[in-house]
Amino acid sequence: MVYTRKNQSHLTSAEKRRFVNALLELKRSGRYDAFVRTHIEYYVSDGDDGLRVAHMTPSFFPWHRRFLLEFERALQRVDSAVTVPYWDWTVDRTPGASLWGGGLMGGNGRRSDRQVMTGPFAGPAGNWVIKEGETDGDFLMRDFGRPHDPIDLPTEDELARATRDPVYDAAPWDSTSTEGYRNKLEGWTSGSGSAKWRNHNRVHRWIGGHMLGGASVNDPVFWLHHSFVDLLWDRWQARHPHSEPYLPKKPPGPEGLRRGSVAARYEAMPPWDVKPDELLSHRRIYRYA
Ligand code: CU
Ligand code: CU
Repeated sequence: MVYTRKNQSHLTSAEKRRFVNALLELKRSGRYDAFVRTHIEYYVSDGDDGLRVAHMTPSFFPWHRRFLLEFERALQRVDSAVTVPYWDWTVDRTPGASLWGGGLMGGNGRRSDRQVMTGPFAGPAGNWVIKEGETDGDFLMRDFGRPHDPIDLPTEDELARATRDPVYDAAPWDSTSTEGYRNKLEGWTSGSGSAKWRNHNRVHRWIGGHMLGGASVNDPVFWLHHSFVDLLWDRWQARHPHSEPYLPKKPPGPEGLRRGSVAARYEAMPPWDVKPDELLSHRRIYRYA
């Protein structure tokens, strides 16, 4: 049965409670941290050798689509009615948004150590001990807006600039690609200061704390952010029905650029035996409301 992923701002308080309870149960049983480890393992950057499937690469969208599906299935084994909500950060763009309320994600980190003090994932509540962090503390950290060097969430205009690009991705198929929707949305640029981060990356930067690196899955808002990113890929496809939905179609050519490091359309994306081609549409599994 096709299920629905909802905008988090439209969830009833009962729906929020069931989503949060399923998250806490996965955490309690240790299954949540397995997702954190997988993401850390696949967080490799441009300079590294070998196949790169999750970030700075064309399969950024299908890899995270599959990752979210695995996570959603784990949630649904706890409570079959739960789906991953999405956060439209072009609309709900302040620390006062209901997303950050005590019934859903909880709020910002405190000034001294960036520890989240409110909501179900607050350090003092004791239900969300960080075990797979890349920092010392074992509590969840956030630092909204990066006060020491302020940054805003991406705007609708910035998002539109990415969505307008009719080409899915382009050589050299990494974080330096200046053409193509994928990197404009994933958001690596050669700019300086806050112009360095666009769209998807900028959201990670704005939240700060654990959301900054490979261990970003430690912050449950990761899933709501990536659910929206997944929706945006769908929106791009609908906007450009005559574009190739995924590139490259074949492994990049003899010029050697990123050869062997990129999953082309019909090549598997580890850790799963699944090809980008199999994940171009989600409509038989779920839809977005
Ligand atoms: Cu990721
Ligand atoms: Cu991300």
